[in-house]
Amino acid sequence: MFKSKTSVVARKVPLVGILLVLCCVSFLFSSCKQDNPQLQSTGNTEPTFVDIAPIIFKNCTPCHRKGESGPIELMTYDDVFKNKNKIRFVTQTKYMPPWPADAQYTHFVGERALSVNEIDLIKRWVENGALKGDESNIPSAPSFFTGSSIRKPDTVIKFKVPVPIKGNGTDHFYIVKIPVELVKDTFVRYFEFVPAHRQLAHHVNGHLVNFEDEKKQDIQSGLNYALDEFKDYKDLYKQMNILNDDGTFPVLTPNTVYYLPGYTPPIYPEGIGGYTLNDKSIILLKNIHYGPSGKDVMDSSYVNIFYGPKPKRPIYETQMGTFGISKIEPELVLLPNKIQTFHTQAKINNAISLLAVNPHMHLLGKSFWAFAIGPTGDTIPLIRIKKWDFKWQYYYLYKHPVILRAGTTIHAYGTFDNTTDNPFNPNRPPKLVTQGEGVRSMQTTEEMFQFIFSYLPYQAGDENLDLSK
Ligand code: HEC
Repeated sequence: MFKSKTSVVARKVPLVGILLVLCCVSFLFSSCKQDNPQLQSTGNTEPTFVDIAPIIFKNCTPCHRKGESGPIELMTYDDVFKNKNKIRFVTQTKYMPPWPADAQYTHFVGERALSVNEIDLIKRWVENGALKGDESNIPSAPSFFTGSSIRKPDTVIKFKVPVPIKGNGTDHFYIVKIPVELVKDTFVRYFEFVPAHRQLAHHVNGHLVNFEDEKKQDIQSGLNYALDEFKDYKDLYKQMNILNDDGTFPVLTPNTVYYLPGYTPPIYPEGIGGYTLNDKSIILLKNIHYGPSGKDVMDSSYVNIFYGPKPKRPIYETQMGTFGISKIEPELVLLPNKIQTFHTQAKINNAISLLAVNPHMHLLGKSFWAFAIGPTGDTIPLIRIKKWDFKWQYYYLYKHPVILRAGTTIHAYGTFDNTTDNPFNPNRPPKLVTQGEGVRSMQTTEEMFQFIFSYLPYQAGDENLDLSK
């Protein structure tokens, strides 16, 4: 499909060394603790919770409820009233809802970005005393399923053994193998990872391995998980019994069980995408990233499985930049005390229907921009992230596939800030940072610049597919 050789095996190194966010946030809050004593009497109608509730319920409550990632609950008037100053602050600064993609540039399914009017309304509401208004007009809080953000799953597959996570104040990275022995030719439409500890789970990349019968006798034996210390993947996979019996690496599907707080798997129209399981499949969660905590916990997360019809059109995933099909120019060498921009481009030889994009950088990322130039010189905007936040790396799903005709070139630009002005810079003073050894290494200090995307080979009518349903 592409000029350079394409590998559909996702090889993504997780974000590493993520420590500073929480402290930075509380530092930000210290400037917003005081109430504004001047009530603005506007004369016209003052907003009440009747106006505010729909904004909160749509954009905040999915993460700010019991058992979810948000540290406070925003389900009721009292919840919101209690946190009103913080809410005004995080919305003014656009810190919440987390949605790094520039909504002025391109739109995606599930976009969570407040309009200028909504942000202003929240501010006025808080500054006018955060009135409740007519209770009978306040919409009721949305209801959610327990155990899934979608619906009741067809099968739930748990970790074979819980993983002990130390509350020693550092990040943890681990790999978990979940054997799945279902009837041969079970078709799965999508998987959903459900973390046992939402407030700790930052990020999960999971793959599916379907062993060919003659290549693997037993999928159950071997280590069930590997925690924190792993350098040599081949040796580790051997210990986890993930290699084929002849010692070769099995084929992994691209990112299949993805997770990020607030993320729900894309539900493609029937027949598009999906997976076939055989009777010797494993889910390989590689990697799970838990943030630092002060409390020891046992992680017994699980994966929900949703069955579907036999997939007719498989989805492909590929990546540009680090480990990808296209070279980064200049080479990704981040000099200390410098802000630098890098570029990568790839030409498409056969038309594709672009479904979702996932920009990826680590802690030194500052901004990201991707667009395509069609064969006639037209520009197709793809995604722009003005303020990179390594914590919120969504797979952004387009409402309708973006059709990239044969001869189109995709361009991605990544800007990195390796100065002390970057609060997430792990090196004080800043030092030289490169891509390092990639898959084999999990050094905090390494960077990546990737543009990952999933697509279908184009078929007439794809432009009308609605991916938001
Ligand atoms: C995708 C999930 C998600 C959504 C949507 C979301 N939040 Fe958050 N929120 C979080 C997480 C996780 C944290 C804690 C980590 C952090 O601060 O980044 C947080 C932190 C906060 C905090 C700081 C709480 C504290 O005491 O430290 C406030 C206030 C907040 N969110 C308000 C909101 C509001 C208001 C909205 C909607 C306009 C919203 N959030 C939408 C996930 C979310």
